[in-house]
Amino acid sequence: MHILVNTGGGDAPGLNAVIRAVTLSALRRGWKVTGIRRGYHGLLEPGSEGLVELTRDKVRGIAHLGGTILGTVNKGHPFEFITEKDGQKTTVDISDEIVRRFKEVGGDALVAIGGDGAFRIASRFLKKGIPVVGVPKTIDNDLSCTQATFGFDTAVTVATEAIDRLHTTAESHERIMVVEVMGRYAGWIAMHAGVAGNAHCILLPEIPYDISRVVEKIKKRYAVGRRYAIVVVAEGAKPKDGDISTIGTELGREVRLGGIAEKIGQYLGDRTGFETRSIVLGHIQRGGSPTHRDRLLALRFGAAAVRMVEQGKFGHIVAYDPPHMVPVPMEKAIAVMKTVPLDSDTVQTARDLGICLGD
Ligand code: F6P
Repeated sequence: MHILVNTGGGDAPGLNAVIRAVTLSALRRGWKVTGIRRGYHGLLEPGSEGLVELTRDKVRGIAHLGGTILGTVNKGHPFEFITEKDGQKTTVDISDEIVRRFKEVGGDALVAIGGDGAFRIASRFLKKGIPVVGVPKTIDNDLSCTQATFGFDTAVTVATEAIDRLHTTAESHERIMVVEVMGRYAGWIAMHAGVAGNAHCILLPEIPYDISRVVEKIKKRYAVGRRYAIVVVAEGAKPKDGDISTIGTELGREVRLGGIAEKIGQYLGDRTGFETRSIVLGHIQRGGSPTHRDRLLALRFGAAAVRMVEQGKFGHIVAYDPPHMVPVPMEKAIAVMKTVPLDSDTVQTARDLGICLGD
């Protein structure tokens, strides 16, 4: 058995731990493992530059490292690959070439580590004859098929620590601090880091906000002598009567979200008269070492993926259904996005603590 493994989409702390677990579990079975660099691109690179044989040595000491030793891409979809002709960008389908190369290098199975986008691509490759097993990855925690994905705990830990640090400087300067966190269309990072970090207001995509509620909450705090405020805003949050804030679109890429903290900060400063600063945590949430929880989860995902290859469970992803790792059909895995349930205990806790959720 020769397994090929790749990482696709935005990186997440824990990818290297998955690669290590896949490699060691496969080698123990007497199999061979090859890593494809840069998503699927490595298969098309000249010679063997884009491929790396994963030996025990290659995966030694990597479980605690952030990023991915294989590299990743979140543009250049193989079914809509971007090329430039006469200064014009167009898309072409290079998937047949990838399937041909997969077979040429002797691949028997692919372990694709990625998010919903990567699974959409992988399920199309399955139809074209590549036996694939998926491993779910996202810091956004928005995959409904699995109770948890690695990367989320690390992102929340980093965001919480940042919010903790903002309390003291906000209080010293009597400022409003608006902190923008990642998460795309789901408010998991904002909700968890906001509650854990004692934010005074948390704005989520799941609850379109009324900014006057936030103004009210902050004015009340200042009026009783608590002269600072921390507002955590998910990058995908939107006002009741408005749209999500975006930075731009590019052919072959998902729309980039961002800019909401700056807008809210400006507005709150104007409406309250209190000094305001906005902070975008950005990719700091994705970089660096995975927490022990993410590391363990990632190692478990990797080992389970190899067991699924052994059992011939192709077209499935590994899902965490505590305490087990279970196969879930890929199509089902990407069907529904997991957002923060408004009746969840965490949301209720936020309300009980007096945190303003903008409604
Ligand atoms: O999906 C993970 C994520 O970090 C999102 O939270 C964020 O919107 C996006 O990726 C950022 O992508 P990029 O690295 O392409 O800027």
